[in-house]
Amino acid sequence: MVKIAPSLLAADFTDLRSELDRIKLAGADLLHLDIMDGHFVPNLTFGPPIIKQIRKFTDLSLDAHLMVTNPMDYIEIMNKLGVEYLSFHPEVLYHTHRAINQIKELGMKAGIAINPGTPIDVVLPLIRDLDYVLFMSVNPGFGGQEFLSLVYEKIEMIDRIRIEGKLELEIEVDGGVTDKNAPELIKKGVDILVAGTYIFKSNDYRRRIDSLKNGN
Ligand code: DX5
Ligand code: ZN
Repeated sequence: MVKIAPSLLAADFTDLRSELDRIKLAGADLLHLDIMDGHFVPNLTFGPPIIKQIRKFTDLSLDAHLMVTNPMDYIEIMNKLGVEYLSFHPEVLYHTHRAINQIKELGMKAGIAINPGTPIDVVLPLIRDLDYVLFMSVNPGFGGQEFLSLVYEKIEMIDRIRIEGKLELEIEVDGGVTDKNAPELIKKGVDILVAGTYIFKSNDYRRRIDSLKNGN
């Protein structure tokens, strides 16, 4: 069954504690955390101090998505904060293989997040070492953007490679996910759906999560 990772970016930050309770009760599998530095993407969000608070008030697995130009500087701290899934963007890093090893040595799942305009070639040499690939279906930086269907072809390519290679790799999709595209994404083999606006800007989180899982 597909896992749903609500993106906290779209939550009500003035009432974070109850948002965390509500999303857990609604059946979320992971909590997606968008860490933006104002350099890699034209927006700033939150970092370790906030995640430390979040960790105190939820036992959901944390799925951290680093949209920063210096991801190496955050690997250790993310582990200390209890992050389970950690992805970074290869567009800013010379030593992606080293980053993956560091993440895994600390016991976290390592993921590469790729922008809509980045070819999947960057993940191919590393595919046996990776735990997951995060496909961006919007240009990173903001929630509430429109889903880019160019992601389907990338998913198909990676799904084919993982079947042929009998790899345990997971596929995650992030950006503009709604009940309109979820069925197709699931059909193409996606394991984790990230959704911010679709879930948090509704008044029935459970219904939205169920609709992503079951396509109704
Ligand atoms: C975009 C972020 C996404 C975003 C998803 O840079 O990486 O995780 O929060 O939000 P929605 O679902 O609103 O597109
Ligand atoms: Zn994200």
